[in-house]
Amino acid sequence: MVEPIGGDNGLLPDEDELDNVSRDQHSFGGAWTLIKLGALEKYLAAFNTVLSKQSFTRLYIDAFAGTGRCDIKVDGENKTIDGSARRALDINPAFHKFCFIELHSKKLMALNALRSEHPGKIIEIIQDDANKALKTLCTQYHWRRERAVLFLDPFGMHVEWSTLETIAKTGAIDVWYLFPYAGLYRQATKNADALDADKEASLTRVLGTDEWRKVFYVQNPQSDMFGGGNGDVRDIDHPQMLKFVSKQLKTLFPAVTEPKILHRGGNSRNPSGPPLFALYFASSNPSLKAHGLATKIAKDILNSL
Ligand SMILES: C[S@@+](CC[C@H](N)C(=O)[O-])C[C@H]1O[C@@H](n2cnc3c(N)ncnc32)[C@H](O)[C@@H]1O
Repeated sequence: MVEPIGGDNGLLPDEDELDNVSRDQHSFGGAWTLIKLGALEKYLAAFNTVLSKQSFTRLYIDAFAGTGRCDIKVDGENKTIDGSARRALDINPAFHKFCFIELHSKKLMALNALRSEHPGKIIEIIQDDANKALKTLCTQYHWRRERAVLFLDPFGMHVEWSTLETIAKTGAIDVWYLFPYAGLYRQATKNADALDADKEASLTRVLGTDEWRKVFYVQNPQSDMFGGGNGDVRDIDHPQMLKFVSKQLKTLFPAVTEPKILHRGGNSRNPSGPPLFALYFASSNPSLKAHGLATKIAKDILNSL
């Protein structure tokens, strides 16, 4: 069972701890890394097996590709494991084409080396911001003869709503989205006085609406009695905030699973530490048969983790 989360119940990290989480992620993943990559890998294998009986060209798109390897720390032990790009390349039956998007030059060098290890495979490497690259890529294909799996694995609040809109419009892309749960509750501060313009813009960019301001915050009944600030306070707990995310995603995609909450420590069945990410699967395919099967496979995988 995933331990209950929500409210400011002591499970949540303070600002310093979240800063450490962000810093760690540049060199270290953790328990959540194993879970997300396990889910992705299982889905990629199932996707290719099912679609190998059809004539579609199968694409794998990794929008925050990294290097092909992840340095993680689990139970105090450092290890290096295969990252998403390397795992996708090893899937059998294989994808017909791979597209790796990565912003940072040093990681590009590793991706180029990874491509050299696979001379028989068609691998496109794009150095750009994921939002920009995805918008271009989604409009490059007609999506009549292609089907794709896209992995959105950002460190934080990087995926813009307008990017998700473009992806959803293809009707041909299945998405695994590691939603930045900690980023969300960190930006949506408990006290609205601490919401600056950057935080507000980031929330609107990621959630696709500024409705969150009305849904998350109420006027503090005790405000101004003693001459305090404007007094708005966040009135909903973290799981309710995530429900708002799910509701938003369902306005774009025909099928969206319940998210799997990934914590800082422990393992999937016995998590510990603050919730960091929420792993969603969404299918953009309007066909009930297609997105029904895709979500059944994804749900089975999420339930098995
Ligand atoms: C969590 S890591 C991805 C790990 C990778 N999926 C794996 O399993 O090995 C996020 C990656 O996104 C890259 N990145 C950060 N901001 C980006 C952006 N705006 N566009 C594209 N890549 C970005 C980082 O350099 C980093 O390699």
